Amino acid sequence: MSSIDPMSLSTPRPSPRVSGTSGTPSAQSTRNNQHTPATAATTTWASVTGADPEHSQRYIARWEAIEGGGGDIDGEARLIDAMAPRGARILDAGAGTGRVAAHLSALGHQVSAVDIDPQLVAYARQRYTDAEESVGLPVAWHTGDLAEESEVPAGPFDLIVSAGNVLAFIPDAAHRQALGVLASRLDDAGRLVVGFGLQRGRSLDAFRQDATAAGLQVSQMFAGWDLQPFTESSDFLVAVLVRAIGGNETTQAGER
Ligand SMILES: C[S@@+](CC[C@H](N)C(=O)[O-])C[C@H]1O[C@@H](n2cnc3c(N)ncnc32)[C@H](O)[C@@H]1O
Repeated sequence: MSSIDPMSLSTPRPSPRVSGTSGTPSAQSTRNNQHTPATAATTTWASVTGADPEHSQRYIARWEAIEGGGGDIDGEARLIDAMAPRGARILDAGAGTGRVAAHLSALGHQVSAVDIDPQLVAYARQRYTDAEESVGLPVAWHTGDLAEESEVPAGPFDLIVSAGNVLAFIPDAAHRQALGVLASRLDDAGRLVVGFGLQRGRSLDAFRQDATAAGLQVSQMFAGWDLQPFTESSDFLVAVLVRAIGGNETTQAGER
C-alpha cells in the first residue's frame, strides 16, 4: 500500500516529507526512539492556524498539488475499507480535507466526518458533497472538537479512523478525553484506527496510558498504514484499538 505521508502536510516545514508510506522513517527522523514519555509539548491545530491564518488554505493547496501530480492519497482509506464490512458505519475523526471520508463514501460506506477546522470542513463539504465530485452516499460533515462530547457524531460506528497526526494535535489535557469520546462512539465490535508520528510530542507510553484510561485496548500496532511491523525504532504508529472488556489492561502488539 502506498500513500502520502500526512506528517509532511500537517505543519509548514522547510523540507516537507513525502514518502511512499505513512510512517516510513525518513532521513530526518531519529532511529533511536525508545518510546519514553514525551518531553516536547504537542502543537495544537489552533496554535498552528492561530499563528498562521493562511495555513488551512495552504494545507488544502498542498493536498491538491499532490493529488494533481498523481500522488496516492487514499492509502489509509483502502486499509479501513479492507477492515470494514460492506456498507459499514465509519467516522473519520479529524477529517481535514475529507480525502479519507470521501474515498470511503465512494466505496459505499455510511460515513460521518468531524474536524475542528471550519475552513477544512467547508472545503470537504463543498468539494465532495455539494459539487460534482460527490460519489456514493453523502458524507455527514461536522465541525467539532473530538474532546467535546456534544460535538462528535453519536454513532455507533463499526470503524473510526483518525489519520494524519490528528491525535498529535490534541493537547495532552484533552487527549484522554478525546479517546474516551471516540471509545464511546464504537459499536461493541467496533475498532478505532489511529495514525500519528511519535516524534510529535506524545510518546507511545503516554498514548497507551491515555487509551487505557479511556477504556480502550491496543489490539495491534504497525509502523505505517501499509502494516509494516512496529519496532523499537519506529517513529510512526498506526494502532488498532478496541473497547476494553472487563478492565482497562492493554495487550502486546498483535494480541487482542
Ligand atoms: C494533518 S491534518 C489530517 C487530516 C486528515 N485526517 C488527513 O489525514 O488528511 C490534522 C487534522 O486534525 C484536525 N484536528 C486537530 N485537533 C482536532 C480536534 N481537537 N478535534 C477535531 N479535529 C482536530 C485538524 O483540524 C486537521 O484537519
